[in-house]
Amino acid sequence: MRMARTPEMKTIAVFSLKGGVGKSTFAVNLAWASATLSARRTLLWDLDPQAAATWLLAPGSKTRDAASAVFARQLDPEDICQPTAIPGLDLLAADMSLHGLERLLFELGKKRRLAKLLDGLAQRYDRIILDCPPGLTETAEQVLRGADIIVAPVIPSPLARKSLDDLADILIRRGGKHPPILPVFSMVDRRRKLHAEALETYPDWPMVSYSSLVEQMGIKRAPLAVYAGHSQQAEQFAAIWQAIERRLAKA
Ligand SMILES: Nc1ncnc2c1ncn2[C@@H]1O[C@H](COP(=O)(O)OP(=O)(O)O)[C@@H](O)[C@H]1O
Ligand SMILES: [Mg+2]
Repeated sequence: MRMARTPEMKTIAVFSLKGGVGKSTFAVNLAWASATLSARRTLLWDLDPQAAATWLLAPGSKTRDAASAVFARQLDPEDICQPTAIPGLDLLAADMSLHGLERLLFELGKKRRLAKLLDGLAQRYDRIILDCPPGLTETAEQVLRGADIIVAPVIPSPLARKSLDDLADILIRRGGKHPPILPVFSMVDRRRKLHAEALETYPDWPMVSYSSLVEQMGIKRAPLAVYAGHSQQAEQFAAIWQAIERRLAKA
């Protein structure tokens, strides 16, 4: 009798050249959906020294330099993955040491360090969600080499297309293979003309609308679905997660 094959581990990076576009919000809610709706063993790896996702998911997290010690191979990532209040969802927390990650990665000169660390976690997790710092940093370069798909939150505006084109340009200029990009509209307010126009221009981009319910994640310190599971926005995040799973299945 043939053994059922375990599906491969996949890495989903939430990335944008810009800050404040909803990356951490997406990362946390997509991680919830992965663990809960898809029953995947899920890890959220917070790569941003601002540690927004860590702050939302791990009220007590207080590592000092573990986050970058993992990249120096002084610590095994498995040893610092911590459970969260969500069954099936672990967190690899960010801390202040990530402010030194850029320099560390340059000094190491290992272009695939993150990719290899991810490979090392493939037995333990089915899905790894990366919450990335903004900008084309060395960390981002590592992410682009390690991810299977890039989720790119975009706040609707005439510049939205540009920031996405910039990202595509960068990926093309780097040459070789790069992961597919899934643009997602973030903080959409249909009453605003620019938002409505952007949605008309890109009708096939999934979206999450603006809502104070989403903002409250910072007060509740939990994924949206934990306290507002029936909200429109929780459903939108869930739909985006399903779209990601479909893309990954095609790859
Ligand atoms: N759909 C939304 N509706 C309302 N506020 C949102 C929404 N998405 C994100 N926010 C808020 O916008 C701010 C920036 O989001 P965040 O996810 O931290 O962005 P980034 O990680 O890209 O810097 C946060 O205060 C967050 O609560
Ligand atoms: Mg963030």
